[in-house]
Amino acid sequence: MGKLSGKVAVITGGASGIGAATARLFVEEGAKVVLVDLNEEKGKAFEAELKGKQAEALFVKANITIEEEVKNIFKETANAFAKVDIVFNNAGIGRVTPTEELPYEEWRNTVNVDLDGVFLVAREAIREMLKSGGGSIVNTASMYGWVGSPGSAAYNAAKGGVLNLTRSLALEYATKNIRVNSLAPGFIDTPIIPEESKKTLASMTPMQRLGKAEEMAKAVLFMASDDSSFMTGNTLTVDGGYTAQ
Ligand SMILES: NC(=O)c1ccc[n+]([C@@H]2O[C@H](COP(=O)([O-])OP(=O)(O)OC[C@H]3O[C@@H](n4cnc5c(N)ncnc54)[C@H](O)[C@@H]3O)[C@@H](O)[C@H]2O)c1
Repeated sequence: MGKLSGKVAVITGGASGIGAATARLFVEEGAKVVLVDLNEEKGKAFEAELKGKQAEALFVKANITIEEEVKNIFKETANAFAKVDIVFNNAGIGRVTPTEELPYEEWRNTVNVDLDGVFLVAREAIREMLKSGGGSIVNTASMYGWVGSPGSAAYNAAKGGVLNLTRSLALEYATKNIRVNSLAPGFIDTPIIPEESKKTLASMTPMQRLGKAEEMAKAVLFMASDDSSFMTGNTLTVDGGYTAQ
């Protein structure tokens, strides 16, 4: 029996990178997965791929910054699978812009997706989990939630916010059987990282390579599953040693 046998998992940013690798691992461990993404083409293709392997998968197109669309994710999940046990709150965006050139609109957009969107998904997940008796939420932050870096003020501020949102929600629902933890990845080889930056980012990492999305998925599986049943309000930082420097 898999670690997630019979569980239903909603994964935002599920069409690509860390979200897609986690969906693959969750399916291998027996979960039914709801893939949420803005990118309909990639999401539908991935849904078809998983279904082709006899997995139970559903793609729901949604923008995590729009309240009604977030509510709809959980409506569609309930219609298809009747419940939700796990939410991997992972969709995000990132851009590098020197602060003196950063338009307020770009700041707002980044914080809107990377922090407000995480709140909207977590709130809806909590509403469902309170009704069903509990669950596990994993928010994707970043190692740049712990430490700063030049040119990413909005992203780093939002990711720092995700770490403390995680602690606050964990404390608020600790007696309600809802655990809330976060993942803080280092530089991971996914489409969010421009091809031309990969070599430099690998050289900035003590292990001298980028992480793989599959390596993030294993940490997410630990936090999502009962293997971490006494862990809440905390973070797994999986960064090849970056924040140890
Ligand atoms: N790759 C890295 O180096 C790295 C490092 C630290 C943190 N992270 C975080 O990991 C998470 C996943 O990123 P990834 O590396 O897999 O990148 P990715 O670009 O491969 O995946 C992100 C997915 O989120 C989706 N998305 C973006 N905005 C959305 C919105 N408003 N509503 C719904 N979906 C939306 C995108 O369409 C995309 O499919 C992000 O939160 C990112 O900040 C990534």
